[in-house]
Amino acid sequence: MRQTIRKAIFPVGGLGVRFLPATKAMPKEMLPIVDKPLIQYAVEEAQAAGIEQFIFVTGRGKHAIEDHFDISFELDAMLEARGQGAVLESIRQWIPRPGQVTYTRQMEPLGLGHAVWCARDLIGKDEPFAVLLADDLVQSKVPCLKQMIDVHAQTGGSVVAVMDIPREHTNRYGILDIESESGNLAVIRGLVEKPDPADAPSTLSIIGRYILQPEIFTHLGRRIKGTGGEIQLTDAMAATLGSGPFHGLRFEGRRFDCGDKAGFLEATIAFALARDDLAPAMRDILKSYADA
Ligand code: G1P
Repeated sequence: MRQTIRKAIFPVGGLGVRFLPATKAMPKEMLPIVDKPLIQYAVEEAQAAGIEQFIFVTGRGKHAIEDHFDISFELDAMLEARGQGAVLESIRQWIPRPGQVTYTRQMEPLGLGHAVWCARDLIGKDEPFAVLLADDLVQSKVPCLKQMIDVHAQTGGSVVAVMDIPREHTNRYGILDIESESGNLAVIRGLVEKPDPADAPSTLSIIGRYILQPEIFTHLGRRIKGTGGEIQLTDAMAATLGSGPFHGLRFEGRRFDCGDKAGFLEATIAFALARDDLAPAMRDILKSYADA
């Protein structure tokens, strides 16, 4: 029996420079797709995959995230007084229960690997765990993390969600060196962070969904700087290769890179089209712009 994945780390300390001025006084993870902040999509995906402990690695100016996953007495009282119990219920249902959320701060912007390392003492010594990057939004029938947990139950070890990207984009993502492939699973023999297109070992990129083993903290603790002078999660994953199974899962679904403006806008359209209350209006709008 494989160990169940109970905890997920959400690195939310990033500054969001690409979305200034929107992110000047608001965390980038609170940017909404239709009417829900990016971070809530990630938390709901984790909840649907059976995660019970939500660990946020935050930074300065991120209080809105803590308030979002808390009860708002004023709002509750107002909605109750107005007889809007259904709205209240819909807001309450995704708020984790008391004790399920933990916040820790990154304190220094040293990279994604460092952010994950900051949560090391909140993960058990033998406990595999998940990492979700809210920038990556996945639209799928089965939540992406659930697909990964199902694979992990069979394979054990580490699992990352992967997808093919155009070769000219390899310098935006962690890229796999593949030993073999069977069905939707790739056996990984190498990982490189943001290689130039000419040097990339494949065009299979990691999206922001990981199931990792706690031994990764030992490598992250060495604070070795990689691409961009940052402590990279990809480098620490590469250092663990050989110590256990490591698979890339070509997940079912569509991923939107919401750290990129075009990807963010595309996600807004796709999620609006998936909603019965908005799809007809959205289609009309899109038609009116078709020749623009
Ligand atoms: C991070 C990771 C990268 C991964 C990407 C997915 O990059 O370092 O390996 O492919 O997330 O979105 P970032 O987007 O933080 O530059």
